[in-house]
Amino acid sequence: MIQIRNLWKRYGSIDVLKGLNLDVPNGEILVILGRSGVGKSVLLRQIIGIETPDKGSIDINGIRITSCKQNQMYDIVKNMGMLFQGSALFDSMNIEKNTGFYLEQHIDPLTQRPFSAQTIQRKVKEALAMVGLEGIEKKMPSDLSGGMRKRAALARLIVYRPSILLYDEPTTGLDPITAQQINELIVKTQRDLRGTSIVVTHDLHSALFIADKLALHRDGKIAYINDPENFMKIDDPLIRALKDNASFTRRKAE
Ligand SMILES: Nc1ncnc2c1ncn2[C@@H]1O[C@H](COP(=O)(O)OP(=O)(O)O)[C@@H](O)[C@H]1O
Ligand SMILES: [Mg+2]
Repeated sequence: MIQIRNLWKRYGSIDVLKGLNLDVPNGEILVILGRSGVGKSVLLRQIIGIETPDKGSIDINGIRITSCKQNQMYDIVKNMGMLFQGSALFDSMNIEKNTGFYLEQHIDPLTQRPFSAQTIQRKVKEALAMVGLEGIEKKMPSDLSGGMRKRAALARLIVYRPSILLYDEPTTGLDPITAQQINELIVKTQRDLRGTSIVVTHDLHSALFIADKLALHRDGKIAYINDPENFMKIDDPLIRALKDNASFTRRKAE
């Protein structure tokens, strides 16, 4: 459960987050829509603890990350992962090194020792298989297409099985077919990890495909949050504009 209360963040003299409240229950995918520059990336950075808000609180599974100590913060953040806008792979490392990066840096919580080379290799293989990139371990990021780089970045994230996943514009800049592959992977990852996900996008098609709940970020706050069906019925110019710009496709019920 992610609980955000009265969150404020300003840069210089501009308030970007202005008393934002948000609840995300465990096991849900929340999609946040909003115009460019409204503060969606800023919100994600506060949640994952890269930045500290000026005021307000963020609780993750009952722990107040906005006022906890460094080592406690570390325990929480290691269960979180973020797919940054742009895939942010390390250009000088092959895909195997990129994907295993987190495991190389950390100890195995089960044995309290570094992960063995074999374990890393196996986990990397599994993560790459999960995103449909088997056998490309030795390739460099520059050898891959944009969509493949995005999938490799997702593999690097899921390799350590975080329970909270944040995605910043995961389909921006991808062609429609590749974008749809990423949408499907987000849903699949959520099911496999039984996690909680927040996806920021301005692509309504993606949003409707992956969301359990939809929210609109506007003027420093979450203006609306609802299930997709009721969200789409909200009589608001911005939501009407989103609808006019996109075809209405729903994720198939299983
Ligand atoms: N580190 C920063 N320093 C100064 N201004 C920033 C910083 N990060 C974001 N902003 C400003 O905050 C606003 C929201 O940015 P952002 O969260 O990136 O928007 P978006 O909703 O498109 O993700 C923008 O006006 C941006 O210029
Ligand atoms: Mg952004």
